[in-house]
Amino acid sequence: MNRTGFSVAGAAGVILAVTAFGARAQDDGAAFDQGRTIYEQNCAQCHQPSGEGIPPSFPALAGNDNLEDPALIVNNVRNGRQAMPAFPDLGAEEIAAVATYVRSAWSNDYGAVSADEVSEILQTLDGEGEDGDQAAQTTIWDGVYTQSQADDARLIYIGACAACHGTRLNGAPAEADMGSGPPLAGPAFLREWGGRSVAALFEYTRSTMPQRNPGQYSDQQYADIIAYMLSYGDAPAGDTPLPADISELSNIIIEAEDG
Ligand code: HEC
Ligand code: HEC
Repeated sequence: MNRTGFSVAGAAGVILAVTAFGARAQDDGAAFDQGRTIYEQNCAQCHQPSGEGIPPSFPALAGNDNLEDPALIVNNVRNGRQAMPAFPDLGAEEIAAVATYVRSAWSNDYGAVSADEVSEILQTLDGEGEDGDQAAQTTIWDGVYTQSQADDARLIYIGACAACHGTRLNGAPAEADMGSGPPLAGPAFLREWGGRSVAALFEYTRSTMPQRNPGQYSDQQYADIIAYMLSYGDAPAGDTPLPADISELSNIIIEAEDG
């Protein structure tokens, strides 16, 4: 989705929200209150009661446009991220409540999130197929992208990512002029992402990278960049391009080692 499309949809959402405000405020009131309790008990020590966080260690959630994407919140809470712990004990309803809270508290106005929506996102991120058959699952070692797709993304990577992640995807040291970031291929990268689906990696990359200007590429271009990362990490190419479809990507698991 391009940025222009997104803001048009956003504007329509605001009009709708205003029209439906009376009904919505009541329905969402209980979830908002439950979410505040969960937030105060689990999140406020880092993100602060004011939502302002303690940058740069703990990012602000107040006024944070990344919260427009419910999948980003659900992914962070379920799986953790760098210095943020995972909250495996929070169920879909609780995650929906805390997501509703952080999207509506302070001066945020990103709207409520339902438990159904969260369940759907969780299923996608956890890579559970319809039958939940883990044994038949595809992994990154099964030839899930094409070489030409990876080659196409090389120039984007060099232009937009290499300054912080290294031209050889091995990360850049903190003293580098342009910025620094973790490796995007190799053992340390696979340890960080192992066991999770390519959908989670796609979602994270698309909504937060490049760090100072996220979301500037099309979904297919982000899928191509991930293909480039996989090829650099020696996962073999195949006959079908890596799709930009999150539910298809959820069936491909990042595994540390072949087999
Ligand atoms: C121990 C500290 C800590 C706790 C507790 C914590 N977080 Fe975080 N949170 C972080 C850090 C650090 C990041 C940045 C992670 C990264 O490097 O991407 C983060 C990132 C996030 C983000 C993504 C922000 C962005 O711009 O990408 C969201 C949303 C979030 N946290 C929500 C929550 C919620 C909801 C809770 C409670 C259920 C919570 N956090 C609890 C430390 C914490
Ligand atoms: C200005 C520096 C910068 C640029 C440019 C940048 N990144 Fe990042 N990237 C980071 C930092 C810093 C982190 C670690 C984020 C954190 O801990 O919250 C990161 C994390 C990541 C991660 C997660 C790695 C992990 O081990 O968790 C991926 C994937 C990623 N970046 C992909 C990209 C891609 C693809 C691009 C180009 C489209 C890009 N980045 C551009 C700085 C950058």
